Amino acid sequence: MKPARTDFPEDFLFGAATAAYQIEGSAYGGAGPCHWDSFAATPGNVVRAEDGSVACDHYHRWEGDLDLMKDAGLDAYRFSTSWARVMPEGRGAVNAEGLDYYDRLVDGMLARGLKPFQTLYHWEMPSALADLGGWTNRDVAHWFADFAEVITRRIGDRVAAVATINEPWCVAWLSHFLGHHAPGKRDIRAAARAMHHVLLAHGAAVERLRGMGQPNLGIVLNFDHCTPASDSAADVLTTATQDAIFNRWFIEGITRGTYPAEALAGLAPHMPKDWQADMPLIGQKLDWLGVNYYSRHIHAFAPDTPWPHGRDVPGPLPKTQMGWEIYPEGLYGFLTRLSRDYVGDLPIYVTENGMANADEVLNGSVNDHVREDYLFAHLDATRRAIADGANVKGFFYWSLLDNYEWAFGYEKRFGLVHVDFETLQRLPKASYHALARAIAR
Ligand code: FCB
Repeated sequence: MKPARTDFPEDFLFGAATAAYQIEGSAYGGAGPCHWDSFAATPGNVVRAEDGSVACDHYHRWEGDLDLMKDAGLDAYRFSTSWARVMPEGRGAVNAEGLDYYDRLVDGMLARGLKPFQTLYHWEMPSALADLGGWTNRDVAHWFADFAEVITRRIGDRVAAVATINEPWCVAWLSHFLGHHAPGKRDIRAAARAMHHVLLAHGAAVERLRGMGQPNLGIVLNFDHCTPASDSAADVLTTATQDAIFNRWFIEGITRGTYPAEALAGLAPHMPKDWQADMPLIGQKLDWLGVNYYSRHIHAFAPDTPWPHGRDVPGPLPKTQMGWEIYPEGLYGFLTRLSRDYVGDLPIYVTENGMANADEVLNGSVNDHVREDYLFAHLDATRRAIADGANVKGFFYWSLLDNYEWAFGYEKRFGLVHVDFETLQRLPKASYHALARAIAR
């Protein structure tokens, strides 16, 4: 089925998403070093040890990239503003060139009729703050609120929405427990602290920005559908624990003022002292919720490993270039579950959804029909969730461009637009044209 704009509410927004470090080129414009630079420079962390120093050179090519979104008929653009670009040391001195850049970028969106959806933190922890422990240091909350204030004073009058943090699960768990992302820690105590401090920083930034009168504040959480490998009690319990860590921790911290018991079962001894006292700050009202969704994982009990005693089992469904199963039903499930169990009528945006594919340019075009199918299936899941009562207000495809896919370097292509990383030339793929046709007015 091919959804069209007319299948969605009149004010529904279609957009594309990117993130600063993945596209801009951190070598340009006076940005400071961030923990991804040093993580990538350490053997074994990133495919071919690639980093974001040049990336898509969006820093110089942003006008053409915004034109691509305008030409596709998109309504909104989800972008992020790099902490290390705005404040190279993370605190104190501000990089005027960085502020000027975001100022021009936002004006460029408005000039093209694109609503700016800003994310404050999409993973560029400035190295000077990483030296002090980054997310494991409680002070990160006010460092982050200070950064939020500085960038908001410059562009806050023109952005349509602000998200504090992109994917706290990745910031905390993937990066401090699993060690796959910067800073590459594998330590349960560091992970527990990051799991709490990331929400504390969110709360501190919301409080600061709301105090300045900034409207439309939210957060972007990621969700992964958890399926038990069997109906044995052990697999079911392991799956519930994974669901608690991944899918419940952050939304329950914000909306219920506490963390799920299944996750505290392992994390409680490692939590910062008196964490409970922080929950009112964390639990401030949101104006909207961002949902990132890609896939599902199948979980089995692993008795030979420490808590959470789990391992992933390969699933039977068709997979993307990332090896992630394609499971649109999971998106329907989260949109309806979130509105039913947690946020009620609060506006929800699908802030990321997309697939990596081993795209190739053949005779001047990229025929990524598999991506069209993925996109349309997830748009249809969104449409069905709206019909069943979820207040979903928009959908952002990840990503506009092929870009720096973190630990996978430039190998995994998620874009609607192909990027040749030798020449940096852009080429809209078949999926770009298909989306443009679907949303044409
Ligand atoms: C999400 C990230 C985004 C991108 C996609 C594929 O976890 O927010 O930057 O890497 O996955």
